[in-house]
Amino acid sequence: MKNLLTDKIALVTGAASGIGRASAIAMADEGAIVVVADRDESAGHTVVEEITAREGNAVFIAMDVASRQSVSQGFDQVIGQFGRLDCAFNNAGIAGDNHLIAETTDEEWDRLIGINLTGVWSCLRREIQEMLPRGGGAIVNTASVAGLVGWRAGAAYSATKHAVVGLTRSAALDYARHGIRINAVCPGVIQTPMAAALETDTSGVRERLIRRHPQGRFGQAEEIAAAVVWLCSEQSSFTNGHTLAVDGGYTAQ
Ligand SMILES: NC(=O)c1ccc[n+]([C@@H]2O[C@H](COP(=O)([O-])OP(=O)(O)OC[C@H]3O[C@@H](n4cnc5c(N)ncnc54)[C@H](O)[C@@H]3O)[C@@H](O)[C@H]2O)c1
Repeated sequence: MKNLLTDKIALVTGAASGIGRASAIAMADEGAIVVVADRDESAGHTVVEEITAREGNAVFIAMDVASRQSVSQGFDQVIGQFGRLDCAFNNAGIAGDNHLIAETTDEEWDRLIGINLTGVWSCLRREIQEMLPRGGGAIVNTASVAGLVGWRAGAAYSATKHAVVGLTRSAALDYARHGIRINAVCPGVIQTPMAAALETDTSGVRERLIRRHPQGRFGQAEEIAAAVVWLCSEQSSFTNGHTLAVDGGYTAQ
């Protein structure tokens, strides 16, 4: 622990599992007071208990990022309780069903756009509105390597992640003079519940994907969390509008 985020109020969406959970724990380990936001209340409370057991500070708020009303209520709760927001990690997302475009339904498209894109948009806008009058802050969005390159049988997912990259870059330009830094992390395949199906895959997809990662393995949530902590901290004070691939070299090819 280096106290990189001492006393910062930090919100993490999708914090009940995987990358969000690891990042909430890592931020609390660095001294932040973490708002664990997720639609999964039970798992969210468990993460708060884990942080408390490590002598960190955290609270849970129920938030469905796809619902503008839920996002609005969640942020009202955060500002009501803490009076400000210093860091935010817009991470909640879903993988979708990975169909070819011809087989992707409108419902699946709408679900992916609603959570992965509108969810980030709604949170990002409110975070900027809260940070602007208080002198700034640091925001990180979760994109993906699928936001930097195409993804076979995942066009809808890939489109949402490319859009998150565009949002990140454009927002960073708009607010760079206002003390708000906005960056994105672009994970390769990370061993979280989202990628659990790969563990039992026998169709060859798992082996193909491992070969696509030059380091010869999938990543761990803690390896993304370390990047998120750095992007939220003053250690990255001149890093802005950046898409940080944490992908074992996937996009270097
Ligand atoms: N795991 C990977 O290989 C990988 C790779 C690249 C990018 N990502 C991205 O990382 C992010 C986190 O993924 P993960 O692997 O930790 O997945 P995960 O399934 O382990 O965790 C996702 C969390 O988001 C929450 N969530 C989902 N929809 C929500 C909603 N509408 N409102 C609030 N919370 C919601 C879930 O309840 C869950 O706690 C996602 O945006 C995902 O697209 C994951």
